[in-house]
Amino acid sequence: MAKPTKQLFDKAKGILSEIESAEVKDKDALEKFRIQYLGSKGIIKKFFSSIKEVDPSDRKAYGQLVNDIKAKAEAKHQSSLQQPETGSSRSEDIDLSLPAEPHPLGSRHPIAIMNKKIIDIFKRIGFIVEEGPEIENDWYNFTALNIPKDHPARDMQDTFFIQRNPDILLRTHTSNTQIRVMENSKPPIRIICPGRVYRNETVDAGHHTTFHQIEGLYVDENVSFADLKQTLYFFAQKIFGKETKMRLRPSYFPFTEPSAEMDIICLICKGKGCSVCKQTGWVEILGCGMVDPAVLDNCKIDSNKYTGYAFGLGIERIVMLKYRINDIRLFFENDIRFLKQFKSAF
Ligand code: DAH
Repeated sequence: MAKPTKQLFDKAKGILSEIESAEVKDKDALEKFRIQYLGSKGIIKKFFSSIKEVDPSDRKAYGQLVNDIKAKAEAKHQSSLQQPETGSSRSEDIDLSLPAEPHPLGSRHPIAIMNKKIIDIFKRIGFIVEEGPEIENDWYNFTALNIPKDHPARDMQDTFFIQRNPDILLRTHTSNTQIRVMENSKPPIRIICPGRVYRNETVDAGHHTTFHQIEGLYVDENVSFADLKQTLYFFAQKIFGKETKMRLRPSYFPFTEPSAEMDIICLICKGKGCSVCKQTGWVEILGCGMVDPAVLDNCKIDSNKYTGYAFGLGIERIVMLKYRINDIRLFFENDIRFLKQFKSAF
């Protein structure tokens, strides 16, 4: 039985104006609106099923009206979705006029920065850079440097040997490069040799199995200890500042005679004595000395005619002293929070 047509039309028109004037203030209200009108059990669905109840002569007009209701409800729902209060955060909501996030730039590693700085200092006074292999044989790492097979000085450096062939090892210092260069060139020789070195050490705050050194060597006629001292003082002033106090202290290395170690005044306590300098007021920064004539002879350089000086320093140690870093492991962990602090350093 068809319902009285007017009643159905009136009801539909009422819903249409209800939809037009509905206020959708927030996300909850929008969802309520959707369920109420557009949901699978919503009002509009019911209107569609009521079409068949309308007198056939009015069905077309009624169907039109129901379609209008649906279109209005959908339009309202769609436009509310795009409002900030009622919509979800979708790409349409992004403010394109906002400045973009800065692109994070990487920075150089502190060891690389210090390596370059040291090289630049020595280049200014006539040194050239030479590099040697990290996988080395006994001759270049030990024997030619006056450290024969059962010399106790081998205990100073715990070595990684290749199991199959104990003649092959990971170099324990960059001094190997001195020998390689002296074997292949004639004085004057004025070189610095940066590189990675390896020691079979237990890793702790002060020791690592891998670290970096720079070796220096000057061989010519009449090279004296005074030249060595001047050169090292020049270098240390450039790195630590003009006012930094320095001293050379007698020491022992098999490849130099006499040998010395260079100290700078402790930067933490300014020489008063603290835990960093073990209460001495001084900290060691490098080893050095006059090239032992036996080493020159090993490389077929006439030790009656030529003399030379050599020195070797650890780059990690220099960075740690300058920037008061108390754990060598930080250099190898590659924690961005540590590394990025050196962006503007040096
Ligand atoms: N090779 C030494 C080391 O690794 C450092 C060194 C000391 C190098 C004295 C030198 C030198 O050339 O003269 O501990």
